[in-house]
Amino acid sequence: MRVPGDKSISHRALMLGALSTGVTRLRGLLEAEDVLNTAKALAALGAPIEKVGGEWRVTGRGVGGLRQPTGVLDFGNSGTGTRLMLGIIAGHDMTVELTGDASLSRRPMGRVLGPLQQMGLEIEGGRDRLPLIARGSANLVPISYALPVPSAQVKSAVLLAGLHAAGETTVIEAAATRDHTERMLRHFGAELCVEQSGAKTHITVKGEAELQGRDVVVPADPSSAAFLAAAAALVPGSDVTIEGVLVNPTRTGFYEVLREMGGEVAFTAERDEGGEPVADIRVRHVPLTGVKVPAHRAPSMIDEYPILAVVAAFAEGETHMEGLAELKVKESDRLAATVAGLTANGVVAVAEGDTLTVRGSRVVRGGGTVATHLDHRIAMAFLTMGLASRDPVTVDDTTMVATSFPEFLTLMESIGARFGTSAGRPR
Ligand code: S3P
Repeated sequence: MRVPGDKSISHRALMLGALSTGVTRLRGLLEAEDVLNTAKALAALGAPIEKVGGEWRVTGRGVGGLRQPTGVLDFGNSGTGTRLMLGIIAGHDMTVELTGDASLSRRPMGRVLGPLQQMGLEIEGGRDRLPLIARGSANLVPISYALPVPSAQVKSAVLLAGLHAAGETTVIEAAATRDHTERMLRHFGAELCVEQSGAKTHITVKGEAELQGRDVVVPADPSSAAFLAAAAALVPGSDVTIEGVLVNPTRTGFYEVLREMGGEVAFTAERDEGGEPVADIRVRHVPLTGVKVPAHRAPSMIDEYPILAVVAAFAEGETHMEGLAELKVKESDRLAATVAGLTANGVVAVAEGDTLTVRGSRVVRGGGTVATHLDHRIAMAFLTMGLASRDPVTVDDTTMVATSFPEFLTLMESIGARFGTSAGRPR
């Protein structure tokens, strides 16, 4: 099977293309709402983006070369789009109004606005939630910033702003988060230095950068592939291979945990595609056992906890997942939504502080209705649960699935899933 392109890499490829001189050609771009909203925002900022045949072309404007948009930039459901674009807007002398849907408007923006304001961004009324009016500056000040939360979005926003500042901007990370921005900055010709200092990583980008348009091939998204991998792991008789998946070690925590649970997970044909490691992932059904997932794993699988919790529901014994504070500020409070969804389907699940415990059983009742709270991953995780539970699982909404994985229902159907509503197949 093939799943669509990686969401994180798709956002970054469009943005760095817009900040380059010349044309950037993208193949395998994720054509889902979150990424298309970033493309629309960049076009409104003066960097035309068009699809020609099977590839996307971005006409770059150079670092600092975007222009004041005429309308509001609407980021829909996308935290990544909003936070990274704030880093870019910070470096331009313009005033931009940013908005998003109800889920995005509840999410904390202070985590990026703090460092960006130190660099020179101004926010009208000092707000820290969307909608926001942001005023950038052509004279950003470089900073050194220690991340208070393990967030690739915050790291990336500061590095993108740093491209525009006069001097060197450093981000200090205590826990490794996804490093796609660093890899791609190098690919586009930025001067980037990554140094280890004890347990911390210092990432420094040289400002007033000049980037050149490049070709990017976007590998398949391991966070989307996780639903197919989970389906294969849970349904007896399954043997599924997902081709060309990104296996960057900052993203593969879910697959490692699945192996630790006793799962048959093989990475084959490992290769390098455009500076990122890629492999085919083969998953076969075997009975699983509960495990302890330590907090240090969280950044490498932060988007996979809802589906891991579903997998844990079918594993013999208890699974403890620690260090989940960041789950509470995703597209929904995913800790609460996951516990509620499991409980509604007859699974014993408890959240205490930042730890989630799921008591697994080879037979899961199902039959419950899950509130998705505008969260695509909650919808996909619990639909996947229905493949292996005794009774079908119902989710209250599937429209949000289009934000990251529009092909989800069709691909699941192609391996045997059946979806229905009282009015027929959901869209
Ligand atoms: C992302 C980083 C993660 C992740 C999100 C995508 C990115 O968020 O949850 O889906 O592309 O940088 P945080 O960096 O806020 O943890």
